[in-house]
Amino acid sequence: MNNRVIIFDTTLRDGEQSPGASMNTQEKIRIARRLEELGVDVIEAGFPAASDGDFDAVRRIAASVERVQVAALCRASKGDIDRAWEAIKEAKHPRIHTFLATSELHMKYKLQMDRETVLRKAVEAVRYAKTLTDNVEFSAEDGSRSDRDFLCRVFAAVIEAGATTVNLPDTVGYAVPEEYAALVRYVMTRTPGMDKAVLSVHCHNDLGLATANTLAALAAGARQAEVTINGIGERAGNTALEEVVMAINTRKNVFGLETGIDTTKIYPVSRTVREITGMIVQPNKAIVGANAFAHESGIHQDGVLKNPMTYEIMQPETVGLAKNNLVLGKHSGRAAIRARLEAMGYTLEPDQINVIFTQFKDLADKKKSIQDEDLEALVTENVLRA
Ligand code: KIV
Ligand code: ZN
Repeated sequence: MNNRVIIFDTTLRDGEQSPGASMNTQEKIRIARRLEELGVDVIEAGFPAASDGDFDAVRRIAASVERVQVAALCRASKGDIDRAWEAIKEAKHPRIHTFLATSELHMKYKLQMDRETVLRKAVEAVRYAKTLTDNVEFSAEDGSRSDRDFLCRVFAAVIEAGATTVNLPDTVGYAVPEEYAALVRYVMTRTPGMDKAVLSVHCHNDLGLATANTLAALAAGARQAEVTINGIGERAGNTALEEVVMAINTRKNVFGLETGIDTTKIYPVSRTVREITGMIVQPNKAIVGANAFAHESGIHQDGVLKNPMTYEIMQPETVGLAKNNLVLGKHSGRAAIRARLEAMGYTLEPDQINVIFTQFKDLADKKKSIQDEDLEALVTENVLRA
């Protein structure tokens, strides 16, 4: 089986649906260019029927990138599809992404349609989109809570109508990894024509399981992951691109998968998205949080100084960070203090280090973290003026 995972980034569409994360067109273009450099395969640029502003942003993003595919989201209606196509038709590699809900709950209460109507509308939408472009994705919204045989029927019908990607979203973040992987396996083996389309997954993080669910689905055979930078998105967010890509890379022996991502661009893109959206990244966030490569305990610092692999499963350089960060605080040991002093240009005798270390511990009990200026003052007082 092909082991290349298609990375479909929806920071500019689902990510922008995070409360408070709206971006202007210039900002979106900046992010789109960064995403292209990062090596994502598809950028979902927006939902053109949502507003004139969204339409304009998608149109301008489509004209601003070259290599990457540009997707526009639309409901399964002719008007929406036309609007999406109008916005992306100048892209070098356009993709129409149309969606319709398939769960009983959504069909009954939201759409007020029966199964046969949903099936017919999904097919009509894909068939129409296919007259505009070869590259058509269909998403079965709330797929993870849909009847699995109905899901297979819908996927088979839209593939027959020309869909080249079928997406199985966990729209409300309800799935758990084992169950989601089993659904992926079921759909892959029971959908006629599945060999002609890519199966995609799209997870939300309501139970904190978006990355786990995405990885389980990829291990079960899905080959497109829909993700956002820093995991931003509707409610608790979407699957974080950086987590999926670094899990695939770091645990190659487990997944045997690859992506086209240049991981050294991950941290810079994360920072750009944080600055533009104003959405703070929690310090302990995997891969891109401020503490992701920081070590405070003396035992850990000593280990990392001897060999970073003792406490680091990834090198910070691989995600575009200059180096790890040994935070000096009350848990730090002599080795970290000596290393920091050496980096500051002080090579001290063991007894001088002992004096500084004692003073440092006193200070660390009073302050949360010790900065270079504090060490400077200790050296001046206890060594230079002694
Ligand atoms: O979460 C979801 O179901 C979506 C679809 C529109 C793909 O964002
Ligand atoms: Zn979503």
